[in-house]
Amino acid sequence: MIQDLFAEALIAVVPELPEDQIRDAIEIPKEKTMGDFAFPCFRLAKAFRKAPAMIAPEIAEKLSGHPLFEKVQAVGPYVNVFIDKVAWTKSVLEEYEAAETFGSGTEGVKEDGSKKNIVLDYSSINIAKPFHIGHLRTTVIGNSIKKLYEFLGYNTISVNHLGDWGTQFGKMAVAYQKWGNKEEIEAKGVRGLMALYVRFHEEAKNDPSLDDEARAAFASMENGNEEILSLWRWFVKISLNEVARVYELLDVHFDSYNGESFYMDKMDGPIALLREKGLLVESEGAQVVDLSEYNMPPCIVLKSDGSSIYATRDIAAAIYRKNTYDFDKCLYITASEQILHFSQLFKVLELMGFEWAKDMVHIPYGFVSLEEGKLSTREGNVIYLEDLLNEAIAKTRDIMNEKNPDLENLEEVARQVGVGAVVFHDLFNNRIKDVTFSWDNVLNFDGETGPYVQYTFARASSVLRKAGDPELKVPDPEKLTDEYAQEIIKLIEDFPNRVREAARKYEPYIITRYTVAVATAYNKFYHEDPILTAEDEETKMARLYLTKMVTYILKTGLGLIGVAAPERM
Ligand code: ARG
Repeated sequence: MIQDLFAEALIAVVPELPEDQIRDAIEIPKEKTMGDFAFPCFRLAKAFRKAPAMIAPEIAEKLSGHPLFEKVQAVGPYVNVFIDKVAWTKSVLEEYEAAETFGSGTEGVKEDGSKKNIVLDYSSINIAKPFHIGHLRTTVIGNSIKKLYEFLGYNTISVNHLGDWGTQFGKMAVAYQKWGNKEEIEAKGVRGLMALYVRFHEEAKNDPSLDDEARAAFASMENGNEEILSLWRWFVKISLNEVARVYELLDVHFDSYNGESFYMDKMDGPIALLREKGLLVESEGAQVVDLSEYNMPPCIVLKSDGSSIYATRDIAAAIYRKNTYDFDKCLYITASEQILHFSQLFKVLELMGFEWAKDMVHIPYGFVSLEEGKLSTREGNVIYLEDLLNEAIAKTRDIMNEKNPDLENLEEVARQVGVGAVVFHDLFNNRIKDVTFSWDNVLNFDGETGPYVQYTFARASSVLRKAGDPELKVPDPEKLTDEYAQEIIKLIEDFPNRVREAARKYEPYIITRYTVAVATAYNKFYHEDPILTAEDEETKMARLYLTKMVTYILKTGLGLIGVAAPERM
């Protein structure tokens, strides 16, 4: 990277400071007019026995004349440098050319060549409940983080920790036995199950004995009652069939669907260990871990009737995952409502003596709301994600039919753009920020949207096609020194950093915004610098090469947030 070249130049003239301190000290000035990089001289004051503002001119003097710099300036205690455009461009071109997949990495590869494992728990939907727009966030954030880590060489294991156990299944079973009808449920799927669930709650208001029946039904499920268990299995199957369609639309896939029920027979060991460590205390009949010392409410492990709860199953799940996947990190992506739950979980695991509790990370996100009046469905407040995605596809199909009716596989492109628009919008901000969903923002082809970036990718791809997809050689950097090409070159150079920052912070939006910046820079370049009609052949080839790099960056960047990049649209 060009910053490394600057560091090397500094190292040669500042032997007084250790190399890594020099590297660490380099800054990027906020104002472009201040230069591309700055080196603050504060740390040199001691060695030089001089004020930093006196040292800066000395160092500037020593650096001037170096071919890497167009200009070197001392400003107060800083040495500001302007990198020579040709040197800069050459370095970016070389780096791009040298990497098999530019921006990827080997951070996830261990010395012996094996890969570090990252378990990601996301989507984790609740069976027999609607897959609604709220669950979209965990699904797409998790999917993006998975792709980011894979790009950095990690092995990922994506787990859909299904909410497939608990008292609600007792209610469902009772409701079905009383009022259910097989054909109707087969036909209506989760919506049919939801209707039963809603009816149960309505009727239970007047007839509290229903709740007792439901509790008894769940207890018998836990004790292996085959009749109720087979109903439950059927509910699970119906739900999974339905969500499979949504995952297909989103192109999201899981390595494991081990949900809460999977841990039913895996809790005895952990509970015994909690007991052995003296961590379980009784509180109002329940068995809890007291966390008052850590300013948290107690973590309930066993309810007064001896049954397990969500947290118990999560304790068992964490231990199972460590034993099964030997993870380097285990990530949980859920709404911010569950921040306390995960703080408790991680603390309990730590108290149990698992040193790997430190490798667990909760990744919370804010709420999605719907722009008032713009989205409504027959079911009232619940927006089924499948309906929303299909609507996005339909709206996109209409736009396509107008803009480009002759497009081949218009249907597939409408899916890629429609779904991509929704995903992109969801990943546009810092994840903790609440999202308001509005069609105008999602599908705008000119705003900072998925369609805009995809359209730019298609435009760049079409430029290459029109040029006849020529064999492109690394160009002469001199041909890419104008302001529009330079803007792109600098963004490309930044790609590996952005990928690492996004992965480290678990923030896909860093990539989302980056793709917008690249698309915008390319569109400017496209309008200002003639490509196919460039002044000479060499310039044309250089601009085509830059175009090719942009297609790589956009396609890879979109891929990292789980959005497809159609070549024509
Ligand atoms: N099913 C839960 C929900 O919808 C999320 C589960 C998250 N994962 C976990 N291991 N607790 O809120």
